[in-house]
Amino acid sequence: MKKFSNSNKLKAINLIQPIFIEEGLKSKKIVKGLGKNYSHTLQSAKKTIVSDINKGVKNFLFFIIPKKKQRKPKDFNFHYQVLSNIKKTFGNRILIIVDTCLCSVTTDGHCGITHKNKINLKETHKSLGIVADTFIQAGADIIAPSDMMKGTTKYLKSLFKKKKYKIPIMSYSSKFFSSFYGPFRNAAKSSPKKFDRSSYQLPVHDFKKAVQSSITNAKHGASYLMVKPGITSIDLIKEIKNKTKLPTGAYQVSGEYASLQYLSQNKLGDFDKLYKESLVAIHRAGADFIITYGARDIAKNL
Ligand code: PBG
Repeated sequence: MKKFSNSNKLKAINLIQPIFIEEGLKSKKIVKGLGKNYSHTLQSAKKTIVSDINKGVKNFLFFIIPKKKQRKPKDFNFHYQVLSNIKKTFGNRILIIVDTCLCSVTTDGHCGITHKNKINLKETHKSLGIVADTFIQAGADIIAPSDMMKGTTKYLKSLFKKKKYKIPIMSYSSKFFSSFYGPFRNAAKSSPKKFDRSSYQLPVHDFKKAVQSSITNAKHGASYLMVKPGITSIDLIKEIKNKTKLPTGAYQVSGEYASLQYLSQNKLGDFDKLYKESLVAIHRAGADFIITYGARDIAKNL
């Protein structure tokens, strides 16, 4: 297992590149606002990974988007096909982290299974357990639950114990109810219907609650913690690390990355400089790893 550690200088090994793979595409499709990021077919994803490896990227976060949506997701065949193929192709040349959530699979775009406009926690955990198990059987190195439901890390940890899986959990442990997720939701086809995500994601103003959420996930067995979005959450990082002693990263989310793209496209700033500054600041705040859409472009320029 790769260790992330916070050295004085930000290095490529601290960066994680997201990759979207969508079922039913004839060819790759640009994600609006996210520079050179695409919704990929399996084939185009593999091509990109080869080129990303050459650009110095080692760590990938996979988002898998199936065509068929389900009320109570339990068929994850597409997820399995994609991941096992990637594992077979790349083996241990890459670190395979998999975003583990239901929002790209549910009919209403929520991160859990809903009943009468509320999350049904028990059903949600069951479904997340099935998808995590599928990812592990397909060869995932790290499971990254991003659903923000109560007790997911605890549930997954006990499931892994039962199955004797030694796969670490990277929890999206302090994830805010944010307006910076727009471009991502287009790509992941995961905009929630009927009600928003405020019943399960954290309120932006509440520092204590946000830190507590990471502490709880640590107690429940997460190996890696995360704040999300990045720049708007950097004040939490040191506090979380002090309290938990766990490696803690930041997710520079789609809206953050897109805002830098728009500045440069409108000739209001130099993209490379804006981008590097944003990552260096997140690293300065103590992030042990950064999930970011431009990892491939900056890996060799740090
Ligand atoms: C949800 C999930 C989200 C992101 C990753 N996984 C956000 C959401 O829709 O609430 C956001 C990533 C980004 O904006 O880059 N499972």
